[in-house]
Amino acid sequence: MTTLSFTLDPQNVISAIDPRLFGSFIEHLGRAVYTGVYEPEHPLADEDGFRQDVIDLVKGLHVTTVRYPGGNYVSGFNWRDSIGPKEERPVRLDYAWISKETNQFGIEEFARWCEKTGVEPMIAVNLGTGTPQEAGYFAEYCNHPGGTTLSDLRIQHGRREPYNFRLWCLGNEMDGPWQTGQMNAREYAHKARETAKILRCIDPKAQLVACGSSSSAMTTFPEWDRVVLEELYDYVDFISCHQYYENEGSETDFLASFVNMDNFIETIVSTANYAKAVRRSNKEMMISFDEWNVWYLRGDPWDAPMKDPANRFREAPPLLEDRYSFLDALVMGGLLCSLLNHADRVKMASLAQLVNVIAPIFTEPGKGALCQTLYWPFEMVASVSDGVVLRHQLPVPTFSSKYGDARSVQSSVVYNDARGEIYIFAVNCDFTTAFELDINLPAFSDCRLKEHKVLRSDDLYAKNTFDDPNRVHPEIIDYPHGSLRENTLMLSPLTWNRITLSVARA
Ligand code: AHR
Repeated sequence: MTTLSFTLDPQNVISAIDPRLFGSFIEHLGRAVYTGVYEPEHPLADEDGFRQDVIDLVKGLHVTTVRYPGGNYVSGFNWRDSIGPKEERPVRLDYAWISKETNQFGIEEFARWCEKTGVEPMIAVNLGTGTPQEAGYFAEYCNHPGGTTLSDLRIQHGRREPYNFRLWCLGNEMDGPWQTGQMNAREYAHKARETAKILRCIDPKAQLVACGSSSSAMTTFPEWDRVVLEELYDYVDFISCHQYYENEGSETDFLASFVNMDNFIETIVSTANYAKAVRRSNKEMMISFDEWNVWYLRGDPWDAPMKDPANRFREAPPLLEDRYSFLDALVMGGLLCSLLNHADRVKMASLAQLVNVIAPIFTEPGKGALCQTLYWPFEMVASVSDGVVLRHQLPVPTFSSKYGDARSVQSSVVYNDARGEIYIFAVNCDFTTAFELDINLPAFSDCRLKEHKVLRSDDLYAKNTFDDPNRVHPEIIDYPHGSLRENTLMLSPLTWNRITLSVARA
């Protein structure tokens, strides 16, 4: 056992947390929408055809924003197909996922689902086959109060008040060879800039996200980001980051995924600061990490359906339905700490995705819904992280990984002054060492151990299934005393932890 002695100071703040750090993502992909959030024939469907069991689980997850309608899907998406009476909506081919799209769930349905779920919509516009003008028409239909052909069309469709969507993504992964309408950085920057001008003209309050590199593994990273940031600096509020992680055979490398996320964020921050200097700007560019998760791409290549002619252009086929393990949940805990520790620059993030497609929530058509292992670390952080992130230094040993040296314990600390609570989030990546926490709190007169929640399992590959839905589930550790000093606080090997302290200022 090793003791980790560290001090927490409520003045030593990295940043207040933007609630939009706990966003997620629903794409027209596989069963994310159809039989995921929308299934009119389901016994638990509400009057709009939304699965109430899924709405309840999304609320329980404390998701704050949902990005929509893609993803790769958006780069061939015609917004006009997804409005108006359902029986008049066209059935289309989806170029991204080689599926058939019925458009029975569209903009109005998404907006209603967000209202019922209590999340803020984040809308992506098509900059693949789409044009700046069409993006403008889309925004006008959605956000202009009335008196023009398109805004009056929305009213005629039954939505008198504008949707007032505030968050707009200018395309998706436009550097990717897989993307419909892929471009080079300069072409993208010009198209995105002209789109930004139109969107801001329609709605000066719009907040705009430019496409950054679609992963740090792209050969064009970070040159793409430099060019895009220099060209778009004055026009957008955010640059996006996307990154997925998977176990490629080494559990230690996989556990160290947070090192890659830290480095990725820090490189984009440096690139943004460089562009700020070039543009002689006073503005701070923020990051929207709007796709992140564990995704077993090698086990389930995204283009697999294309290879089997029998699978082409099916309606809502089961795609990217990863089933997650306890180990995946530990990795997610580390990634959540990375996002929190960069809360000064990462103001928005979207767990990709939310239901069925690489998702924490999994449904069976006509039947139940399940919390995958990933649900729990996200819930444990998002449900309490409405404070500030404190800078802290755990004196932990490191281990080597393909990403470089990694701390054995990846941690983050959140302080909520109004509630008088400190939350310590920590994943112990060590296979054998337990770490004892010796926490110094000189700024507080009283400190009590309110709760220690842990995600643990004797099997790294344990999964939640419909037969055993709570196999991986947070547990509360019992301590003999209320006061922090009288207890021995332990981070056991291979566990994800949330420790809640009740504190009173000295
Ligand atoms: O989330 C799945 C896909 O991953 C998204 O459609 C795309 O943006 C990314 O490549």
